[in-house]
Amino acid sequence: MQCKMSKKNLDWANIGFSYMVADKRFVSNYKDGKWDDGVITEDNMIVLSEDAGVLHYAQECFEGLKAYETEDGKIVIFRPDLNAKRMVDSATRLEMPAFPEDKFIEAVEKVVQANLDWVPPYGSGATLYIRPVMFATGNVIGVKPADEYQFRIFVTPVGPYFKGGAKPIVVKISDFDRAAPHGTGNIKAGLNYAMSLHPIVKAHEEGFAENVYLDAESRTYIEETGGANIIFVTKEGGLVVPKSHTDSILPSITRRSIVYVAKEILGLNVEERPVKLSEVENFVEMGLCGTAAVISPVGKINDHGKEICFASGMEEMGPVTKKLYDTLTGIQMGRIEAPEGWI
Ligand code: COI
Repeated sequence: MQCKMSKKNLDWANIGFSYMVADKRFVSNYKDGKWDDGVITEDNMIVLSEDAGVLHYAQECFEGLKAYETEDGKIVIFRPDLNAKRMVDSATRLEMPAFPEDKFIEAVEKVVQANLDWVPPYGSGATLYIRPVMFATGNVIGVKPADEYQFRIFVTPVGPYFKGGAKPIVVKISDFDRAAPHGTGNIKAGLNYAMSLHPIVKAHEEGFAENVYLDAESRTYIEETGGANIIFVTKEGGLVVPKSHTDSILPSITRRSIVYVAKEILGLNVEERPVKLSEVENFVEMGLCGTAAVISPVGKINDHGKEICFASGMEEMGPVTKKLYDTLTGIQMGRIEAPEGWI
């Protein structure tokens, strides 16, 4: 897409990660066993029955992806096919009807096209966050799947997820669990985030930016944080990515892209494997990764008062994290040629 429109008059360099009501959104409803064609609408409000399935049994899933303005003024969307596929996986696990992947991509493009003047300008540090969401609108009272749903995509311009942008953050090891073994940790269900709200409020009160969750079964292995996946860098400059043997980590599209960038573009050694909390002190860099977090450096982990400090320190991103960040965002912003099909 080429961006010829004038932009909204916003202080692009200083927007945070919060919701602004953009002009247009896409809405499609599922009834009598099929999705309708969907419309682009200005209406950002939803009217629901008090008995809608989403309100009682949390039948809801969502996605997060971004559109970027590139150096040469094009508007591009990063890997929407993977979000389309992940949303089908989430819906299937929650007994919701899949929204067809091709229609998902088409709808994402339509919404971005309808809100071109909300796409932050190249170089501003902000991006257009795209939030697809699907939820049960049909009535249920017994515990069962609803028979009506809504799929909606809206956009909002966002700045950095963590205050301070690329400044390293401090995270804590949580005593709460994020996901049960073989539960719903590997899908993008709102319920996985609902359980993280009390712990994140507590963590913020204690001065930490995020919670690191351990595996719920043995409380031995690193899983992810409330809002992002995790990466580590070894002393030898290799990448280590926590993998769950109980399938309870969200398959982050950013993480998958980082693994590709590390292996195929930067030629780094990459290990995707279970990572014990007890071995984390051997790593020299740590980052949180996701669509929202991009790659946010972690300077320290607090494990019940014991500090695990990474060699990269509290001032800036470590060198390997920086290389990964520069390459990934370079691809997203059109400064580096994208692997086939990423844009
Ligand atoms: C994303 O990275 O897009 C997410 O959905 C995480 C969310 C906690 C903001």
